[in-house]
Amino acid sequence: MRLRAVEEADLPLLVRWMNDPEVRHWLHHSDRPDATVESVRGRFGLTEERFPNLVWLIEMREGRPVGHVGLLQVDPHHKRAELAISIGEKDCWSRGLGTDAVRTVLRHGFEDLGLRRVDLHTDADNARGIRCYEKCGFVREGVMRARRLRYGEPLDMVLMAVLSDEWLGRGE
Ligand SMILES: CC(C)(COP(=O)(O)OP(=O)(O)OC[C@H]1O[C@@H](n2cnc3c(N)ncnc32)[C@H](O)[C@@H]1OP(=O)(O)O)[C@@H](O)C(=O)NCCC(=O)NCCS
Repeated sequence: MRLRAVEEADLPLLVRWMNDPEVRHWLHHSDRPDATVESVRGRFGLTEERFPNLVWLIEMREGRPVGHVGLLQVDPHHKRAELAISIGEKDCWSRGLGTDAVRTVLRHGFEDLGLRRVDLHTDADNARGIRCYEKCGFVREGVMRARRLRYGEPLDMVLMAVLSDEWLGRGE
């Protein structure tokens, strides 16, 4: 697995992954209108925002693109960011790629960018995601009740975070 910068030419692939019903099921925008090249460009900070979004494409060794991972809303004052990840190629789920990509991004966030905290929120029933994040050092901090709608029904989300002290103490 390697990470590379997302380019304009990747946007249609990201749109395809995001609109795949089985992937979209787990994503915050599952009840929003279909993703478009424009909406993805906006979400991934290829437009101006107060805090930058850093997004990379996840590629297999042979160069096959399989998903994306990012640090969103990188806040240089509070030294924190939000992790976002999605593997759009479903044959690549549960093969350790997510763990590898998240660890790579956390290492960059803590060791290069000097972040203090990286957090995320994920669907409370996303057992695969939660297991992946726990393996990377994320700790559950609480449940955000009815945080989003999925197919019109309120859904709890789990708030998770990892702090730089915990990360640096792990010997990663
Ligand atoms: C969530 C996601 C990024 C995780 O990446 P991944 O490469 O699949 O995860 P990994 O293989 O590194 O780790 C998954 C772990 O969960 C386990 N797992 C898989 N399905 C599980 C289930 N139903 N219940 C519990 N654990 C499960 C795997 O066995 C593995 O743990 P292990 O290494 O101890 O065996 C990826 O699956 C994905 O993009 N899914 C679809 C979209 C999504 O959920 N995005 C995240 C939104 S917050």
